[in-house]
Amino acid sequence: MNRVEEPFSWPRFTCERHQTVTKITPRDAGAAASHAPMPALWWDEAANFLALVDQTRLPGELVILYPTTSGEIAEAIQTMRVRGAPAIGVAAAYGLAFGAREALAGVTDPAEAMARLRAVADELRATRPTAVNLGWAIDRGLAAAGRAQAAGESATTLPARLLAVARAVEAEDAASCAAMGQLGARLIEDDDVILTHCNAGALATAGIGTALAPLYVAHAAGKHFVVYVDETRPRLQGARLTAWELARAGIAATLIADGMAATVLAHERAAWNRTKVFVGADRIAANGDVANKVGTHGLALIAHGLDTQFYVVAPLSTIDMSAASGGDIPIEQRDEREITEISGIRIAPEGVRVLNPAFDVTPSHLITAIITEAGAVYPPYRHTLPALLKRVRAEQSSKV
Ligand code: MRU
Repeated sequence: MNRVEEPFSWPRFTCERHQTVTKITPRDAGAAASHAPMPALWWDEAANFLALVDQTRLPGELVILYPTTSGEIAEAIQTMRVRGAPAIGVAAAYGLAFGAREALAGVTDPAEAMARLRAVADELRATRPTAVNLGWAIDRGLAAAGRAQAAGESATTLPARLLAVARAVEAEDAASCAAMGQLGARLIEDDDVILTHCNAGALATAGIGTALAPLYVAHAAGKHFVVYVDETRPRLQGARLTAWELARAGIAATLIADGMAATVLAHERAAWNRTKVFVGADRIAANGDVANKVGTHGLALIAHGLDTQFYVVAPLSTIDMSAASGGDIPIEQRDEREITEISGIRIAPEGVRVLNPAFDVTPSHLITAIITEAGAVYPPYRHTLPALLKRVRAEQSSKV
């Protein structure tokens, strides 16, 4: 019988929501510092808990939550306490482990165990549809559980197995971020002007981020560059999260309204000729079309019009070869109050019709390169993406 190698024990507290709250004054939040980037979530070895930053409270308060049930994880993903494609994948992997512990208590029949696990998986999967990392992480857990069952393991071992899977997903995400940072930093030169959209930083991952990882690595290497941050309506991930995490890391950044991007890039392009856009991705189709935070497509069109490089930085887990093109990617529609209200105060007239897709699709021809942890790929993506994945699979199987 296979053994679960990773030693662990479960969190001691199960019923209450424990949290650590640190008030952040506006002055602290804006002060240049040089803290290490703070990831969205991590397994706290000492406390034996999952720690998760409540991103709905930043930048005013740094609230660390310690979820212990799959329901709490599902709620955190749905309400965007944890957000960003890689981070919600990691969160979902932990959610499946927590759910297994709850749902499989006392279950011995393998078929019943898998059916219950799939129900937990379905609840987690339904939280946010666009980021493929979510389903990818859940499927990885389900596959591990299926293999364990097929090998004759008792259902009682599944929670431990799934916790080990979640910890591996977390560690691999952190390693991918570091690799993307190294590869992407080569594209950053002194005096570059960089624009980024949404938050594809540490707060969107279990590591140092995707699109912001190259900035962290280049900054640490002593390169000097200028960063503009789109505020990113309607949820303001740029204003609340990217501006906060860059300031915390001591990287100077200028916050702009989304509608200013064309003017800023045109001005900087004329003055310096060194403009670049770095964004993340929630799902990359087989032809290189990229779903990312709404507004990314417009930014790509602006970059194209201004002959500005447009880089997408994302881990391999964000590539979905089952989506032939962007048209196959499900786009999450969110509550219209995200548009009609700001901080709970209504700003639009009652009865106005609202569209609130959380993401848009940038066609591949607008993308200069896609940077993954295994290397950068360039157009034509319908050839270079499958070739990259083939190479990675060959390298993995030669190691086994
Ligand atoms: O709605 P969000 O905040 O989860 O959207 C996040 C983004 O669009 C990010 O750019 C994307 O997930 C990449 S994060 C590394």
